Amino acid sequence: MSQSDTIVWLNGRFLPLAEASISPLDRGFLFADAVYEVIPVYAKRPFLFKEHIARLTRSLHEIRMKMPMPVDEWANIISTLIDKNKIDDGMIYLQVSRGADVIRNHAVPFALSPTIFLMASALAPLDSATLQTGVSALTLADHRWARCDIKSTSLLPNILAKSTAASEQALEAILLADGMLREGSSSSVLIARSGTLLAPPYGPEILPGTTRDLCLRLANELDIAVTIAPITEHMLRQADEIMLCFATRGVLPVTRLDGKPIGAGTPGPLWQRLYAALAAYRQRVATEPFNT
Ligand SMILES: Cc1ncc(COP(=O)(O)O)c(C=O)c1O
Repeated sequence: MSQSDTIVWLNGRFLPLAEASISPLDRGFLFADAVYEVIPVYAKRPFLFKEHIARLTRSLHEIRMKMPMPVDEWANIISTLIDKNKIDDGMIYLQVSRGADVIRNHAVPFALSPTIFLMASALAPLDSATLQTGVSALTLADHRWARCDIKSTSLLPNILAKSTAASEQALEAILLADGMLREGSSSSVLIARSGTLLAPPYGPEILPGTTRDLCLRLANELDIAVTIAPITEHMLRQADEIMLCFATRGVLPVTRLDGKPIGAGTPGPLWQRLYAALAAYRQRVATEPFNT
């Protein structure tokens, strides 16, 4: 489908992308006063729907907003968008902003109607060469705010970090603060050391990742030891394996960090097991209802 054929959902209506418009006084536009989710789609179905809706509910709560529609309505809109846009594998982007005011005013006014936007896009599968060689990442200082657990559209530091990484041919920027690993600019980071999978604890400085949570659950099923503990920059650099977890790409092996090989410089055994387990899990849930 070309972009001109794309059907989106905006404030109660399905309509062509070219006809979707919002007020310039929308607080999402003026202040990034908005939260969002990216839900992967496999075989025409949203994946981890409940988990994404739960995180959206939490993000809304943390910015003092209510869930604007019941879960069934989100599910219906998402299914219809997948259908209308003929998406097999791809993603749903959804965003809820606090809405449009009549003036620009920092303080949150009472009783605004939120602006709700959803779109579906196809995603080409990763080429097999990337999976065979792994990806490169760059470490950068974390310049974000102190509430990165909220999935806010205020992403300026993330996009600048991602662009710096891209300018050095790296897929991801891995963010560090005070000598500690935080997360990627758009991914959670896991490391493997002596057969154990390590993940930094959740807190205000990182986003709770739906893909990371599933990977850790699958690791448990596979009897891979999992430790949730702070990860120092030294541990990151000395790791046997580094993995990126994100909704759009599942779990990816980082084989070069700042131009230096990680472990053997090839995708490692724990990544291979998790990658296979994730693919099997997607198959396993493919026939189950996604929204119950
Ligand atoms: C900053 C950040 N951390 C982690 C993640 C991974 O979250 P998920 O696995 O739910 O996509 C994302 C995904 O966009 C992200 O932007």
